[in-house]
Amino acid sequence: MGEELAGGVLTPDNAGSEGFQEAALAVVGLQEMLGCFVEIILSATDASEGSLMLLHEGSELLTITSASGLGREIVEGTRRHLGEGISGWVAKHKEPLLLVGPIEDARFSGVGRGIKDALCVPLMNGDDVIGVLSVSNRRGDERFTEEDLRRLVELSKPAARMIVLTLAQREADAESRAWERKQLAQEIHDGPMQDLSSVILLMELYKRVMQDDAERAEHELSRAREQALDCLQELRHFAYDLRLTDLEKLSLLDELRRYTVEFQKRTGISVDLKVDGLSREIPVGVKKNLYRIAQEALTNVRRHAKASEVKILLHCTKDQLEMRVQDNGRGFTLQDALERAQSEKRFGLLGMQERAYLMGGSLETETAPGQGTTLKVVLPL
Ligand SMILES: Nc1ncnc2c1ncn2[C@@H]1O[C@H](COP(=O)(O)OP(=O)(O)O)[C@@H](O)[C@H]1O
Ligand SMILES: [Mg+2]
Repeated sequence: MGEELAGGVLTPDNAGSEGFQEAALAVVGLQEMLGCFVEIILSATDASEGSLMLLHEGSELLTITSASGLGREIVEGTRRHLGEGISGWVAKHKEPLLLVGPIEDARFSGVGRGIKDALCVPLMNGDDVIGVLSVSNRRGDERFTEEDLRRLVELSKPAARMIVLTLAQREADAESRAWERKQLAQEIHDGPMQDLSSVILLMELYKRVMQDDAERAEHELSRAREQALDCLQELRHFAYDLRLTDLEKLSLLDELRRYTVEFQKRTGISVDLKVDGLSREIPVGVKKNLYRIAQEALTNVRRHAKASEVKILLHCTKDQLEMRVQDNGRGFTLQDALERAQSEKRFGLLGMQERAYLMGGSLETETAPGQGTTLKVVLPL
């Protein structure tokens, strides 16, 4: 790979500055980023071979993460414990090394013979070593100099920062996936599992009354059927949502249209979706949270409102996205419902509020018995 990366031309001269970080960030993935980086240090030092080794946490073992000019066997097979060989020595002592001439230094336990010259510097994160950067065999007749070593030390700093950042980002992604799984478990518990419990209760009731009260039995049976259908519908949504992984590509408007058309068909409640000013790109986090809020709001309308109509209005301005969900149903007393929800561990209303707060926005519910319900969400852009 050359020195020209998406996001800017990278030269050995600007590699230690902002240019490197910007260009590096534009490259997808740590592996590719490090591959580019090894090419840069080779070109900056005129070396014919180079590698970047990372120290595996806990095991004190260095392995090659990225290399240039080295055979596959070396790349895949090289393992150095702290203190072992040249790279192990550098990682252990946290000191850069310039080696010139046939390398027969007893410090490196015989490793490095056959190398004309080499530079090796530690990759530092504060006081901790996270890896080692090495180049060897300078092209032509010249040998590496102290000046080359100094350049490599300078280049190692942004590289170490990028590695630390990328690894931290990966950890954060894993954490957020874990959070989503927990969330899903909670939703399955609150939704389909509750529904199925009611189905079982209704069936038991049916069994008890079927001998003596055919009319009541008939009624309980049809309620059980309704609940089972609800449960099936909800599971269908889960299955659909689990496939909705590519949120970057998701159009909020398309998804809302699809959802509301399907909602209307399924519930018989008419939905009027109006959109105003939604021409710009919406950040993924906003899209995802707004979509989930709309879903929960409509689920509440279906379950509790006894409404015949819902109006959804999306209004987007330069710096915020507002959504109103208004039903013409029976309304409720907000404070009572919130207290009840808290004690019964129902997190619909509270969850919507939390999502809005997390995004730096707000959620208001306007309602009273007999007056319908209007939910207003504002998310900053
Ligand atoms: N649109 C609505 N119309 C009427 N009542 C509602 C509406 N939304 C919520 N509620 C009331 O608020 C309560 C709490 O809602 P929520 O927190 O979503 O829990 P859940 O839907 O699991 O009961 C509901 O049980 C219901 O009494
Ligand atoms: Mg709810």
